[in-house]
Amino acid sequence: MCGIVAYIGDKKALPRLIEGLRRLEYRGYDSAGVALVDPNSDRLWVHKTVGRVEELAKGVSEGPETTIGIAHTRWATHGGVTQPNAHPHLDTENRIAVIHNGIIENFNELRASLEASGVVFRSETDTEVLPHLIRKYYQGDPLQAVIRAIQDIRGTYGIAVLFRDHPDRVIAARNGSPLAIGLGDGETVLGSDPQAIVAHTRRVVYLDDREIAVLTRDGAQVQRLDGVRVDQQVEIIDGDYTLAEKTGFAHFMLKEIMEQPESIRRCLGGRVMTDDGNAKLGGLNMSPRELVGVKRVVNIGCGTSFHAGMVGAMAIESLARVPARAEIASEFRYNNPIVDPEGVFLAISQSGETADTLGAIEEVQLKGGQTLGVVNVVGSTIARTCGQGVYVHSGPEIAVASTKAFTSQIAALMTFTLMLARTRNLSLEEGKAMARALADIPNKVAEYLQDPGPIMAAVEAVKGARYVLFLGRGFSYPVALEGALKLKEVAYVACEGYPAGEMKHGPIAMMEKGTPVIFLIPADSQREKAISNMKEVQARGAKLIVVHNRGDQEIASMADISIPVPEVPYYLTPFLTVLPLQLLAYQVGLALGRDIDKPRTLAKSVTVE
Ligand code: F6R
Repeated sequence: MCGIVAYIGDKKALPRLIEGLRRLEYRGYDSAGVALVDPNSDRLWVHKTVGRVEELAKGVSEGPETTIGIAHTRWATHGGVTQPNAHPHLDTENRIAVIHNGIIENFNELRASLEASGVVFRSETDTEVLPHLIRKYYQGDPLQAVIRAIQDIRGTYGIAVLFRDHPDRVIAARNGSPLAIGLGDGETVLGSDPQAIVAHTRRVVYLDDREIAVLTRDGAQVQRLDGVRVDQQVEIIDGDYTLAEKTGFAHFMLKEIMEQPESIRRCLGGRVMTDDGNAKLGGLNMSPRELVGVKRVVNIGCGTSFHAGMVGAMAIESLARVPARAEIASEFRYNNPIVDPEGVFLAISQSGETADTLGAIEEVQLKGGQTLGVVNVVGSTIARTCGQGVYVHSGPEIAVASTKAFTSQIAALMTFTLMLARTRNLSLEEGKAMARALADIPNKVAEYLQDPGPIMAAVEAVKGARYVLFLGRGFSYPVALEGALKLKEVAYVACEGYPAGEMKHGPIAMMEKGTPVIFLIPADSQREKAISNMKEVQARGAKLIVVHNRGDQEIASMADISIPVPEVPYYLTPFLTVLPLQLLAYQVGLALGRDIDKPRTLAKSVTVE
């Protein structure tokens, strides 16, 4: 989703801004633009384009030599994907430029009132009200003009503002959309994501909501909107921000699927103790006494992270015997949830920036609940807002479709489950067995990926289908949801995931001769019941693609296409059963000519509601 970069320093701004945008490309966007202070003109120099940063880079070769500028990648919300709608947006005199992430909710009324005063708008965006408002309030002091304009708007924003009349500063402000200020040597860089900063410096100040900063070549002054000066906490950006490479793979999605043995191993490393039959999570300052006090667990997330939360909730409830459930963040936050002060609320997010998940945990905190992050991106807003939690360490996930983050999230949640369960009724021997099985998961995942079975036969069955159904029971139900999400997202094939036992209550009507049904039936306590469900769809002519334990000949013989996976304890089966579904979505997408790493309409980091 939208990306922000601003540069002020002693070096040429343009190549640094373009490089910053390239580093933010993975977030997803549809257009890009840049504004620079041109020393030879009394107007700002602006160039915008629909499409890739590469196109923008070609078009700016004539740009002025300057050491200050702002740049943006846009993911359309208000107004179509057009060049005028791309950021930066300008005031009528082209002397104030604004880039913006977020949504201005009252832009209609602001626009009407600005138009009534004679302002002619050049785009359909909500953002464009900002440069006009800033112009309206500008009386020589850029900071005060921005503060005054912000007071008029309702909604979320991370903004950077450039003034032709003030080539010595960039103004940045945040409410709900992340911004970080990198403090370099003779240069200051603003980014909506540390990725845009790390090429320059690892010293960073994160802006909090309702804070505004003046960036100069020598650093930044941060204050609250009410004028109170903020003591800057300089943090050091940790983690791997090397610009990800496909390293020989055709797409990041495939690379990330294949990386899962290592990414899961990284998540478990140093945390699962096979000899003690226990686990420890460094980011979680909870003693056994505090863990015993946990009365319930609520896992909150969106999309794939929500599905991981479902798996985690099942594990916590069935193994630690603590009431647990998963909640979709966008629903939870607005449903006036009851927040049990003796519960813990886990915010699960790959990016750590998902607006709905952030909103949900803020609601929990407001109601006195304890929040813990289960996050991939170090230093992200959700990680910082939660204050404590677990980094899943899956490494940068670049493909829009989340794959390795899912299995790492489950790994982190299983580790937490083990800790929680050991403080209750899980014995030392049972704890050891669980720890050993968990520690062995990377090997099992590698074993499957070396021999993934007849995925291409499944692709043939699925690629031309009008409708595809994914079914599973128990731990396989969230995996069925995840398989369907991947297939929709990457291949745009109409499909849904369903609990297998619920299928006869409706979706069975969709079965026609040849309808592909992807059934997940690892050997667990639900296997017999799942076989009955399998027979129900088979009787209606469905084509059965079944993911089952290696060696389960009974199921293999019933399937039209049988995909065996290595056997693991029932609560760990999602690590294995999700793999063929990830590969299937990838291969169907490829067969249908989709843009795999950047599927339509989806962004990597969904920072708007
Ligand atoms: C699916 C996908 C999305 C994300 C969701 C949450 O492949 O990528 O469904 O899982 O937008 O994102 P995070 O985990 O960053 O909070």
